Amino acid sequence: MSGMQATYLKDYLPPAYRVTHTELTFDLAPSATRVKARLHMERHPDREPDDKETGLPLELAGGELELIRIAIDGQTLEPGEFEVGDGKLTVATVPERFLLDTEVEIDPDANTALEGLYRSNGMFCTQCEPEGFRRITYYPDRPDVMATFSTTVIGDRDSLPVLLSNGNPVEKGELPNNRHFVTWEDPHPKPSYLFALVAGSLEKVEDHYTTMSGRDVLLQIWVEPENLDKTEHAMASLKRSMQWDEETYGREYDLDRFMIVAVNDFNMGAMENKGLNIFNSAAVLTHPQTANDATFQRVEGIVAHEYFHNWSGNRVTCRDWFQLSLKEGFTVFRDQTFSADVNSAAVKRIEDVSFFRTAQFAEDAGPTAHPVRPDHYIEISNFYTLTIYEKGAELVRMLRHLLGWEDFRRGSDLYFERFDGQAVTIEDFVACMAEVSGLDLEQFLRWYSQAGTPEVDAHGEYDYANCEYRLRLSQRTPATPGQTGKLPLHIPVRMGLVGTKSGHDLTLTLDGEKRGKDAVIHLREAEQTFVFTDVEEAPVPSLLRGFSAPVKLRYPYSREELAFLLTHDSDGFNRWDAGQRLTMLALDDLIAAHRNGVEKVMDVRLVEAYRSLLNEPGDDKAVLAEMLTLPSEAYIAEQQPMVDVDAIHAAREFVRQSLAWQLRDDFLAIYRDNLSDEPYAPTPEQIASRRLKNVALAYLMSIEDDEAIGLTQQQLERGANMTDVRAALTLLAHSDRTDLAEPALKAFGEKWAHDPLVMDQWFTIQVTRPQADVLDRVRFLMGHPLFSMKNPNKVRALIGAFAQNRVNFHRLDGEGYKLLADVVIELNRLNPEIAARIITPLTRWQRFDEQRQALMKAELERIRAEKLSPNVYEMVERALADA
Ligand code: TRP
Ligand code: ZN
Repeated sequence: MSGMQATYLKDYLPPAYRVTHTELTFDLAPSATRVKARLHMERHPDREPDDKETGLPLELAGGELELIRIAIDGQTLEPGEFEVGDGKLTVATVPERFLLDTEVEIDPDANTALEGLYRSNGMFCTQCEPEGFRRITYYPDRPDVMATFSTTVIGDRDSLPVLLSNGNPVEKGELPNNRHFVTWEDPHPKPSYLFALVAGSLEKVEDHYTTMSGRDVLLQIWVEPENLDKTEHAMASLKRSMQWDEETYGREYDLDRFMIVAVNDFNMGAMENKGLNIFNSAAVLTHPQTANDATFQRVEGIVAHEYFHNWSGNRVTCRDWFQLSLKEGFTVFRDQTFSADVNSAAVKRIEDVSFFRTAQFAEDAGPTAHPVRPDHYIEISNFYTLTIYEKGAELVRMLRHLLGWEDFRRGSDLYFERFDGQAVTIEDFVACMAEVSGLDLEQFLRWYSQAGTPEVDAHGEYDYANCEYRLRLSQRTPATPGQTGKLPLHIPVRMGLVGTKSGHDLTLTLDGEKRGKDAVIHLREAEQTFVFTDVEEAPVPSLLRGFSAPVKLRYPYSREELAFLLTHDSDGFNRWDAGQRLTMLALDDLIAAHRNGVEKVMDVRLVEAYRSLLNEPGDDKAVLAEMLTLPSEAYIAEQQPMVDVDAIHAAREFVRQSLAWQLRDDFLAIYRDNLSDEPYAPTPEQIASRRLKNVALAYLMSIEDDEAIGLTQQQLERGANMTDVRAALTLLAHSDRTDLAEPALKAFGEKWAHDPLVMDQWFTIQVTRPQADVLDRVRFLMGHPLFSMKNPNKVRALIGAFAQNRVNFHRLDGEGYKLLADVVIELNRLNPEIAARIITPLTRWQRFDEQRQALMKAELERIRAEKLSPNVYEMVERALADA
């Protein structure tokens, strides 16, 4: 089957024909939309013909299309003159330059894959990245074909009053049969994956932005009428993003209008279509009463991400999909820095790194591990991964540190200037960075082609007699599927030496050169020793500050040393990390005790460390809240050689409850100190305060403290904002007090039944409970009238969230796995992209005990026996490759 064949990076060839201009006409109807395309085509100058005599055949991608007509230079082709099949249309011989006309019919209502043109709540919308445009019309649907677009949208005047596409509206008018049309022109050449169309009964909120060169840009957010009051934060975030990109990267917006549309059915968070970003409603709509702080921050970050793509992705795009991280890694780096700049930078880094070390490390350790630039794929949609996005961002961050901000900015300017309007590669980007800085980045490029998480082992030795500190670093990257024999990487290790007497960073002298108190050393060999001289006192090393490279760093710290760093490290990130390491040591002991059936004993050093955190809280509440947050079960699991879900859960609960018992009054004081009557605002200060308050409350609720129960109920009833309400409801719902949980859930469900995004939260809260009856509840909720397998948000809120409920998903009777496999099989038919994402937890079977391994593999085999989409096929084959 052709859909199952792999595509290889090494086989890249420029396209045979390019499109200089694309004219589209959509005549919209729910189950029979007509699409006329007129493509201005010509031979691509870079592509040699295979055969001088016959030239090159014209091949256009297309799927789920019913061809009505095809003509070249006005001549309709007869059946023998072209071939349709196998996802493409082929014409054996065409002129050097020609006009291609096609007309196809498509069925938006039957499109449950949500790729191409589909309907969501009666609204027409599109999703074309990566290969959705071929479900709209026959086209050279690859990112290195860039054309200007002119799009006419025709629709019913009453049901589709709003007709949108990329660029600027240039013409509109009335048509017979109560229809109307709008023509849009996008003057910027773009690949087909950035095409967008929206039609529906939408309303808008408008604003304006004046760019740095003084141009006025019209900003619009289009939503269904009931959501008009949920757009304020996204609009403010958009304006902040536009200003930030001007100030930070010198990048200005390039069209007269910028539109955002919210849709309910969407496979991912949002899409950066030129001038017409389409957002999952969950990634754009907020209101203090319906969205919590985390959602406000997520919306801000995604709005920024999509906006930033206008330069990193749209003006300069990817030559082929192997280069996906060129736009995604860079853009994630840009949105992370933006969020750090407008919020608490330390907390942003802590959040990003703890997510990265939990989820991306797990991807690297599993059967779907792949390099930031993969060398082959079966289904490119499967590669919108944490490795491409988040690890890609870490690589850009390393470049930024290697070059320093000023050179990095010069490299970025050069990249945008040199490649504007082009489709380029990761090497092109890195070459700009090398050129402006004079750095040799050859070894650095290995980061893009080598998969897996490097492990760095560090050992330090202080020589009192000579006042020398010797730091030995060694690196090793474990084998990943299809890739053994890894080479050493260029790893920047930011570090300091903290004097044990003074408690301060010591001056670092390396090879006779004074390097300040915080320096970057470069590990390039498999093993290297760094000798620091003039070290006046015995130090504790603070390594990999700010997580300066995406590696696992091991150093045999004692608990005393970690407690020391927790209070004395000048790097906020590493202070937090020392706390995490200290907690992990205690957890390791408790996990072992649980497994051996020995009584669990709480480490007093951990209690004392927490006590001093609570008593000398410092002035950064946001960082304190992070410090008080225990590593998640998923993170703990990532640290274990073999995952024992029950022992991890029990050990973590034991730590939580022990801390709550011993520090009860401190937690209570924190809670009370952070109560506030201020009206809700998503400011960093307020967010930190609420977070700290709710972290404290969670500790107290873990021991079912009577006073805490009262406070939680009050907080829920007061209903000040969704952050507090959701935190309180979650604590009650996850407690063993079903007498409190059930009425609270019921009241919430009734109050918010009209709001799908709030109901998503209601589903999630219920299926993430630790109680053993959760599986039945998942099954029950799958029959709830508001649940739908066709809506990705609902699938994620219920099924995706359940799969994160570790103790229940990994039940020993295998019922959790079976439920997920049933869902994958159903989604495989409806929405392959979502099916291939939701299956992920099952693919990680290698990490568990034999009994669970067997159960998980059996479910994967059951899925494999189905008639599979390329998406699910690729995931299952990889998961079972070495079973
Ligand atoms: N380019 C989008 C982003 O990162 C990602 C995206 C949105 C996407 N929708 C998609 C990727 C559908 C694959 C399929 O912002
Ligand atoms: Zn992106």
